[in-house]
Amino acid sequence: MRNLLSTAGAVVASLAVATPLLGLIQPGSAQQTTTAAFPAPSSSSLPASKRGVSYHNDTAAADYDILLSARGPVGWYYTWSPRPGPPAQVFPWGFRDNVEFVPTIHGTGKLASDIADLDKLNASSTHLFSFNEPDELAANGGSQLSPQEAAAAYISSIVPLRSRFRISHPSVTGSQRGFDWLMAFHDACFKIDAKQGCPADFIVVHWYGGFDGLAGWLGQLRKWYTEAGYVAAAAASGSGGGSSSGSGSGSGRDDTNALPFWLGELGIPGAPMDANLAMMSQTLPYLDNLPWIAKYAWFGTFRPAQANNWTGVGVAFFDDEGGLTELGSTFLGGAQKGFAVGDKGRAPPTPSPTSSPTPAPTDGGGGGGGGGGQNGAGRCFVSGAAMGVGFAGVFISVYAWM
Ligand SMILES: *[C@@H]1O[C@H](CO)[C@@H](O)[C@H](O)[C@H]1NC(C)=O
Ligand SMILES: *[C@@H]1O[C@H](CO)[C@@H](O)[C@H](O)[C@H]1NC(C)=O
Ligand SMILES: *[C@@H]1O[C@H](CO)[C@@H](O)[C@H](O)[C@H]1NC(C)=O
Repeated sequence: MRNLLSTAGAVVASLAVATPLLGLIQPGSAQQTTTAAFPAPSSSSLPASKRGVSYHNDTAAADYDILLSARGPVGWYYTWSPRPGPPAQVFPWGFRDNVEFVPTIHGTGKLASDIADLDKLNASSTHLFSFNEPDELAANGGSQLSPQEAAAAYISSIVPLRSRFRISHPSVTGSQRGFDWLMAFHDACFKIDAKQGCPADFIVVHWYGGFDGLAGWLGQLRKWYTEAGYVAAAAASGSGGGSSSGSGSGSGRDDTNALPFWLGELGIPGAPMDANLAMMSQTLPYLDNLPWIAKYAWFGTFRPAQANNWTGVGVAFFDDEGGLTELGSTFLGGAQKGFAVGDKGRAPPTPSPTSSPTPAPTDGGGGGGGGGGQNGAGRCFVSGAAMGVGFAGVFISVYAWM
């Protein structure tokens, strides 16, 4: 943990030098207009596609328009469910098949139908998250599974999905309890299958807290997974970006076969935005530079109206009118990349009264919670409300520890 933290410090320090230089060079450069497209050619070592977002069902379509903008860095999203968000909400201005939807098999409650739903996904979905926070109560968004139950279901139902997806281990809470659960899961897996236990293609990590704690938690997990002998089964090169063969990883260890890590939930719920911003500013370059971090998503791609007592408003990417907060702007690359504080996504196109095969029939009440004053917002929330049908299974993890 100590080593990892000092490595982190070094990475951050070197970026602190590099970033101002970029800042000076880019705006003044004559090629700026031709090279403005994201990702900038100079940032080949910083794969923009690591960034993703967690989907919240009451987030406005206009907000997804900017979050998943083709000129932005976000290359994947997930819903805590095997079902993607409704296209009218998530891609109001046109479907983008280079934004990977990553399905989740949340728990074992509807295993058969959840797995059946995977058949409806496009070929662009190549990764799958297994059980969400099994060490957490269902009431708090967890899947509340014993290590033994999870191991049995993982081996019988998740491992066979490897013919179609790269699969993750269950994502535990970022806590000692989560760590203990993982070790017990590992043991339970080898009790069932003494040869291969519960193989995985990548690990999904959740962390709610500051940067130092995140770096420590990642280090603890990585050490454990390495020592327990988990390796990437297939050639590392195909694992969906990010996995630049780890020869250059600063640790000096040969990481070539190690499992890639994803961060599915990240942020400091309940903390002021300044604290979140400080954490994010330190965390993004750190994660971008670690070769074994394949992807990461922030928790809080919503407006203050959608925040609750646990999240607080300090993690939110949007203000009440759908303008980017400083946090949202930073995640998307900042004003320099065309995502300034206050920038908004486009309200969804007005559906023409005749040609509307897509609008959901159940447009009824509209989610009362959202009521932003923006033109598009009403429509967005109507389409969001229609989702209740398909997305009753969307859970938000609500558990904090520091
Ligand atoms: C699959 O791709 C098509 C466009 O090619 C898109 O309209 C549809 O929404 C996608 N389906 C899913 C489940 O993402
Ligand atoms: C937040 O907490 C306050 C006081 O504890 C309570 O009155 C309120 O209903 C809570 N709001 C939500 C959204 O849970
Ligand atoms: C979003 O999901 C929650 C939990 O399933 C549900 O209570 C809420 O009504 C949904 N909101 C919309 C706008 O569909």
